[in-house]
Amino acid sequence: MKDYIKKILITSEEIESKVKELANGITNDYKDKDLVVIGVLKGAAVFMSDLIKYIDVPLTMDFIAVSSYGRSTESSGVVKMIKDLEESIEGKDVLIVEDIIDTGLTLSYLIENLKSRGPRSVRICTLLDKPERRKVDVKVDYMGFKIPDEFVVGYGIDFAENYRNSPFISVVKEECYK
Ligand code: IMP
Ligand code: MG
Repeated sequence: MKDYIKKILITSEEIESKVKELANGITNDYKDKDLVVIGVLKGAAVFMSDLIKYIDVPLTMDFIAVSSYGRSTESSGVVKMIKDLEESIEGKDVLIVEDIIDTGLTLSYLIENLKSRGPRSVRICTLLDKPERRKVDVKVDYMGFKIPDEFVVGYGIDFAENYRNSPFISVVKEECYK
C-alpha cells in the first residue's frame, strides 16, 4: 500500500458498478431531453469521462472550473470562476457532474450561476457526498456514495493536486496534510 494511504474507502470495482448504475438512471430520465453534461474541473474529470460512456442518450459535454479551496483542505467559502462554459445552456437540460459535495458552497454557487442563463432544467450528479459537513442545503439528484467526514483522494480527487490518478478512493493519513 502506498505510504500516503490510511485506508482504501472505495475500490475501483465498486466505483465501476456505481458509475454504471448512475448512468442507467440518467439514461432513463433524459430520454427526449436536450442533455448537456457539465463537469466541474478538475476533480470531476475522471468520473465524468467514465460516466458518459454508459449514458445511452444523445448529449453534449462542457466544463466549468471554480475554486474554493486553494491548497488547503478546508473550504474558504469564497467561490471563484476560473473557467466558464464554452457553449450556451439556454433551453438545455443541464446535468452538473461533481466529484464530491462537502459544505455545498461550490455547488450552490454553480447552480445559481447556471440557472440565471435560462436552462430548461438543472440537476446534480455527484460521486461522493459528505452530508455531515453541509453548510448550505443542496438537492442532489444522483449520488454515488455517502462518505464520513474524512479527507479523501483518488479517481480524480486531489490533495494539493496530487493523487488524482489513483484508480480507487482512499483516506489520506493525517500527517500528510496536518
Ligand atoms: P464544497 O464547496 O465544500 O462542497 O467543496 C466541494 C469541493 O471541495 C469538491 O469539489 C472538492 O474539489 C473539494 N473537496 C471536498 N472534500 C474533499 C476531500 O475529501 N478531498 C479532496 N477534495 C475535497
Ligand atoms: Mg471539485
